[in-house]
Amino acid sequence: MNRLMGLLCFLTLSISSLTAEVSLKDLLKYDKEICLERLEKATNEELWDVFLEGQAELFFEPEFQWIASQDSWREAKNILEIESGNGAYLSKLADKFHEKSFYGIEKLPLSVKQANERYARDRVVFQEGDAEILNEQLFHSAESVLFRLTLQHLKNPLLALQNTWHYLPSNGHVFIIDSCDGAKKTSHPITAIDEALELVAESQRNHGVGNRKITLEILQMLESHQSQLSGLYEVVYSNLDATGNVLDEVLRLEGEQARKRYSNHNLLFLTLVHRTYQVKVDMSKAYDEIREYLDDENAWTVLGMHYLILKKK
Ligand SMILES: C[S@@+](CC[C@H](N)C(=O)[O-])C[C@H]1O[C@@H](n2cnc3c(N)ncnc32)[C@H](O)[C@@H]1O
Repeated sequence: MNRLMGLLCFLTLSISSLTAEVSLKDLLKYDKEICLERLEKATNEELWDVFLEGQAELFFEPEFQWIASQDSWREAKNILEIESGNGAYLSKLADKFHEKSFYGIEKLPLSVKQANERYARDRVVFQEGDAEILNEQLFHSAESVLFRLTLQHLKNPLLALQNTWHYLPSNGHVFIIDSCDGAKKTSHPITAIDEALELVAESQRNHGVGNRKITLEILQMLESHQSQLSGLYEVVYSNLDATGNVLDEVLRLEGEQARKRYSNHNLLFLTLVHRTYQVKVDMSKAYDEIREYLDDENAWTVLGMHYLILKKK
């Protein structure tokens, strides 16, 4: 009996010390129990940090191709990112465009600190700032402003765009990259993700904070010329039409590396969604579905994303 207890203790201790070493960047290398335990024990700061880094890697190349093909981006010398998070994405852009200067503002002091420690350098600067508060220091500071995966989180995204109008010269551009779940297409649905996204949208509606369709609404407002934004901006590019149909698949994920990154990303995403919005997520079922997606060599996904470019009037 004592030997059995000893063995059990040893196994529990071994699994616990193993989970402590499991990298959140490579969860699916481990079995289900270890992976789910690691996610459960991770702090929010850890999860956000690895999630944002992974998201930058997963999305960057196709988005870079898209952004680099836009004349207005190529001509801009100064780029301002509003809500730059931990700086991972802006830094990747700076690696590609050596002749431009990049400035990120972000509300969370911890993220600004991480961005400065990791990525600040000549031409790449991060500072605290709030998208919803007009900042006179930013007036006419950039020919292009980037909002990436951020308008959807704001209480008042239209105010953020009104503020941004002041930060641009005339004919300056706003590059918006944001979620639009309805535009997602996939050969292999993961129901746990789709269900969680619906619950998030419902929670956002109930609390009046955030909107994962905001960019589509902005497009509709601008195209109908009936909003406070109509006098400020015109639409020069949208990969979706005003009803949300995909006209241009900017972000298609396929192949082994994309499947691996997307699968890891989804595990982190569901854990964060569960903690942030207190929505119900069955992580065991989610893990099984994500593992099946990973094992399906033919799986592809066009992420539900909206790419929108506005020009200042
Ligand atoms: C999903 S992250 C995106 C970060 C970055 N743009 C990227 O693409 O990796 C959203 C960020 O917006 C920040 N944020 C939320 N509300 C904000 C506000 N009012 N002003 C500035 N940043 C804000 C959050 O702290 C978070 O870092």
